Amino acid sequence: MGDIILTGDRPTGKLHLGHYVGSLKNRVKMQNEGNFDKMYVMIADAQALTDNFDNPQKIKDSIAEVVLDYLSVGIDPNKTTIFVQSYVRELTELTFYFLNLVTVSRLERNPTVKSEIKLRNYETSLPAGFLIYPVSQAADITLFDANIVPVGEDQEPMLEQAREIVRAFNSTYGEVFVEPKAVIPENKYQRRLPGIDGNAKMSKSLGNCIFLSDSKEEVRRKVMSMYTDPNHINVSDPGNVEGNIVFTYLDVFAKDSDFEKYLPEYKNLDELKDHYRRGGLGDVKVKKFLNKILEDELAPIRQRRQEYAKDMDKIFDMLRKSSKEASEIGRKKIEQVHKAMGIDYFENKEYISSISEKFKKEYNK
Ligand code: TRP
Repeated sequence: MGDIILTGDRPTGKLHLGHYVGSLKNRVKMQNEGNFDKMYVMIADAQALTDNFDNPQKIKDSIAEVVLDYLSVGIDPNKTTIFVQSYVRELTELTFYFLNLVTVSRLERNPTVKSEIKLRNYETSLPAGFLIYPVSQAADITLFDANIVPVGEDQEPMLEQAREIVRAFNSTYGEVFVEPKAVIPENKYQRRLPGIDGNAKMSKSLGNCIFLSDSKEEVRRKVMSMYTDPNHINVSDPGNVEGNIVFTYLDVFAKDSDFEKYLPEYKNLDELKDHYRRGGLGDVKVKKFLNKILEDELAPIRQRRQEYAKDMDKIFDMLRKSSKEASEIGRKKIEQVHKAMGIDYFENKEYISSISEKFKKEYNK
C-alpha cells in the first residue's frame, strides 16, 4: 500500500508566513509530486475548541480564513481531501475507545501539552477535554490509516502518543491500525520562523506575524519595522547578521536569482552579509530587498485569495462534500474497530445465534 498523508491546523485565525514556510509550502510540494495513495488536510475545529470552548465564534470565523489560505497557497481540493474535523463523528467515537488505552499520568507527561497548560493558566483548573486532545489527535490520524504526518516539531509528542495507542489497541484487540510517523522540516528556520519583532516564534498571540492575507502595504510596513541589529545605528557601522531577523528571513527566502533581479551589485547572500558585517550597508536597503522577495512570493497568493473569496458558497460546498467523503471512509474504519473490539452485535450473525442458543438451553432445561 502507498503512503497516506494527513495533517491539519487548528482554525484560530488566519495563517501566517511561519505556517507557510514550516508546512504549507511542503504540503503543496508533496501534493503535486503525487507519491501517495491519499492526502488529507484537516481543519481541526474540535481540537481548537478544547481551549476556545467559550469562544466558538472565533473558530467559526477562522474556518473560512483557513480554507481560503489553503486554496490560495495551492492546496488543490481535487488532489487533497480538505475536511472539517467536527463533521466526522467517527473521530469522536474512536477517541472515546482510545481513551481507555491511556492513563491520566501519561497524558500529563506530554511536554507540548505541559507547556500549553502553563501558557493558558490551566494549572489549577484543567479542562479534561484539553488534557486529552492528543488522544483525539491520535484518532484523527489513525481513522484514515495515515502513516505520514507532516507537522512542526512541537507535534512529535502527539505522534509518540498516537503510536503508543496504536500498539495498545492492536495488542488488545488485533491488528487494526498502522503506526504513523511525523515528517518535520529539516531547516531550523523552516521549523520555527522568528517573528518580525525578533521573538523566536511567529505567533498570533505575540502580534508579530506577517499573514498570508496581509495587503501589499501591510507587508511593506511590517518588513520596514522588522527587528535588526540594535547596535547598527549608522550605515557605516559594522553590523551583525546573526539574530538579525531581516537576514534570517533572507536565509529562508532569498535565491541567487533575486540578487540578479533586484540587487545585481551582489552575487549572493554571502556577499550581502559580508558587506553588512564590514559596515556601509544600511538596514533600509536590505529591508527593501527582502520586501521585494516576499512580494514575489505573496502577491500571487493574495491574488488567488481574492479570486476564491468571490465564491465562498462554492468553497463551502467543496468542504461539505469532502467532509462527507472523509466521514464515509471513517465509517468503514469504525466498522473494523467494532468488529475487532467485539461490539459489532447487530452485524454479527454468529454472535446473535450463539446467544439465542445459549438462552434456549438455559431456560428449556
Ligand atoms: N495539533 C495540530 C496543531 O496544533 C493540529 C492537528 C490536529 C493535527 N489534528 C491533527 C496535525 C492531526 C496533524 C495531524 O497544529
